[in-house]
Amino acid sequence: MLFHPTRFWNRMARGYARKPVKDPEAYQYKLDATAGHLAPGDRLLEFGCGTGTTALIHAPRVSHIDAIDFSSEMIAIAREKAAAQGVTNVRFETAAFEDWPLPAGDDAYDGVLAMSILHLVTDLETTLALVYRALKPGGLFFSSTVCIGEMNGLVRHALRPLGAIGLLPKILPLTADILTARMRAHGFAIEQVWRPSEKAAVFIIARRPGNDTSAVPAGANLSDGPAS
Ligand SMILES: C[S@@+](CC[C@H](N)C(=O)[O-])C[C@H]1O[C@@H](n2cnc3c(N)ncnc32)[C@H](O)[C@@H]1O
Repeated sequence: MLFHPTRFWNRMARGYARKPVKDPEAYQYKLDATAGHLAPGDRLLEFGCGTGTTALIHAPRVSHIDAIDFSSEMIAIAREKAAAQGVTNVRFETAAFEDWPLPAGDDAYDGVLAMSILHLVTDLETTLALVYRALKPGGLFFSSTVCIGEMNGLVRHALRPLGAIGLLPKILPLTADILTARMRAHGFAIEQVWRPSEKAAVFIIARRPGNDTSAVPAGANLSDGPAS
């Protein structure tokens, strides 16, 4: 295979760490909206954590964060940043979300974060099913997702061949409506949908209902992925 995702992100990591946040106000809004739901005893999972910026910002508000990324270079940078900042309650690990052992019962997570990652996963259905399973009943799923399904044909057609020949990761052609519909199908209740402008990345807060203690919700269509 020409495109190797972990190699791609390993190559990108140092440059990614130097890149300024594209829209600092929108980023701050998402941080604040997330922080408003966090409690000191919370245990969080962030997958696709990149260089760890978001996890390190939330760390003082919670008890523990597992922050994972399948790029070892991203995780190396995140660990350097944690050491420099003296943060000790974030465990940065090199792992694909699909392989991460999900704690169950009382050990399940109070919150899961997926920032700029859902459009990059190979199987959205499996990912959403795993997030649902990772959460305690009542737990929250915070995500920010690029929606290229809403962009004009020119952008989509420019990106597709680059994905096809392996120069860029394949990007799912999501829209905010598709994403919220898929979350609902997996049993999530949508609490907030926000974007700073039309077609900007969509920030969604979704809740696993408090009364659902099953491993997988009855309404989820899991036929596309190995969810159970
Ligand atoms: C666009 S970057 C986003 C990084 C960070 N969340 C942020 O907002 O800056 C996507 C990250 O997801 C990681 N990634 C992609 N697919 C993954 C997967 N299935 N499991 C774990 N990490 C993944 C990549 O290595 C990369 O660091």
